[in-house]
Amino acid sequence: MKIAMVGSGYVGLVSGACFADFGHDVVCIDKDQAKIDRLHQGVMPIYEPGLDALVESNVKAGRLSFTTSLADGIKGADAIFIAVGTPSRRGDGHADLTFVHAVAREVGEKLSGDAVVVTKSTVPVGTGDEVERIIGHTGTKHKVSVISNPEFLREGAAIGDFKRPDRIVIGAEDEFGKQVMSEVYRPLFLNESPILFTSRRTSELIKYAANAFLATKITFINEMADLCEKVGANVQDVSRGIGMDGRIGPKFLHAGPGYGGSCFPKDTLALLKTSEDYDSPTRIIEAVVKTNESRKRAMGRKVVDALGGAEAARGRKVALLGLTFKPNTDDMRDSPSIAIAQTLHDAGVEVAAYDPEGMELARPLMPEVTMCKDPYEAITGADATVIVTEWDAFRALDLERVKELAADNVLVDLRNIYDPETLRGTGFKYVSVGRV
Ligand code: UGA
Repeated sequence: MKIAMVGSGYVGLVSGACFADFGHDVVCIDKDQAKIDRLHQGVMPIYEPGLDALVESNVKAGRLSFTTSLADGIKGADAIFIAVGTPSRRGDGHADLTFVHAVAREVGEKLSGDAVVVTKSTVPVGTGDEVERIIGHTGTKHKVSVISNPEFLREGAAIGDFKRPDRIVIGAEDEFGKQVMSEVYRPLFLNESPILFTSRRTSELIKYAANAFLATKITFINEMADLCEKVGANVQDVSRGIGMDGRIGPKFLHAGPGYGGSCFPKDTLALLKTSEDYDSPTRIIEAVVKTNESRKRAMGRKVVDALGGAEAARGRKVALLGLTFKPNTDDMRDSPSIAIAQTLHDAGVEVAAYDPEGMELARPLMPEVTMCKDPYEAITGADATVIVTEWDAFRALDLERVKELAADNVLVDLRNIYDPETLRGTGFKYVSVGRV
């Protein structure tokens, strides 16, 4: 099969490289000449474990190539995926579909044969109908089936998620579309990955409903963590206790500083906009969005409390370990660390930080923070050390060295990666989330 992937960002590049690895002939297209030049030199535009090697081997095998020309890239393609960004529209939280619509128009104009056009970008319900309309208006003579095929990749684990998905969702309105998409995903059929065929609108909604549900699960356990602190209970045991119920499930019940990233914050807001537009309130999601937003600054205040309160905190120094919204990515979008650093700065606290991959992107977002070359440099002279992101590198800190270098032995563990008793046994004032 010949596949064209329009948009070589996170989703496009990972999906394109994986499809090539299945044996398809893939062209990744992007308008950004510099990005395509770098990809030709084997330089990835994003940090994702294993992606560079996957791209390299498939380019060598002649199955994966890159171009800035949409017309060249889609020539003879059986399936054209739209994987361009759908950022939150400035001001109102609606997903911005400018890029999706522009690609649909160009695809319609440049089409050289029958094809399916697949939205892989996360797009609001009804976008497939609009893409179909736009392509129809170009007057193309070719048969086109517009499909919704949302992706469920997690950053940092994207290749594994693509190759061993929990499910593949395909929203198709005709037999031609279903048949081409079955061919595209045939290698995964053989792996027995479940494929769910639905209507196009249903498929579009499934993506938002999945992310909103996961965001709700996290927010629920975060509120339980706060309650645990008040009543003297342990949130990790609460998670285990409820997660063993097959109806609830153990995943996405880790309490922490609140969810961030490029998906949950943007998709929950967009879902709220859709429910407003259709006059069908989703009050649970409204509460989730508000609760998660206020939690991030509350985590900054938790650090101030650990320093002895507002008065005592002023002029003190804090080391933040981890800045990205989760480990194994350099993504800083909506990371809780931004609000935490801001709250500390507002409280007159000096902040130093270290992150294995995120510092370059973090620097402009938190200009008042001193970036350090390793965790120990950040900890030197700090009155409190705060674990914000659970990178493996922070799971086995040399605690004796931390004590020697730090001004005070206060450890605030916002990801619960250490055991409270062990830590207190080594002389730390240890504060975590939902555990007393
Ligand atoms: C998320 C979904 O998990 C993917 O299925 C989906 O494809 C993707 O969004 C998307 O829409 O593109 P991702 O944003 O990469 O993936 O990250 P997650 O691993 O889901 O984590 C999101 C946030 O939730 C992080 O800030 C993480 O620290 C937080 N989280 C996650 C918790 O606080 N507790 C948990 O138990 C799990």
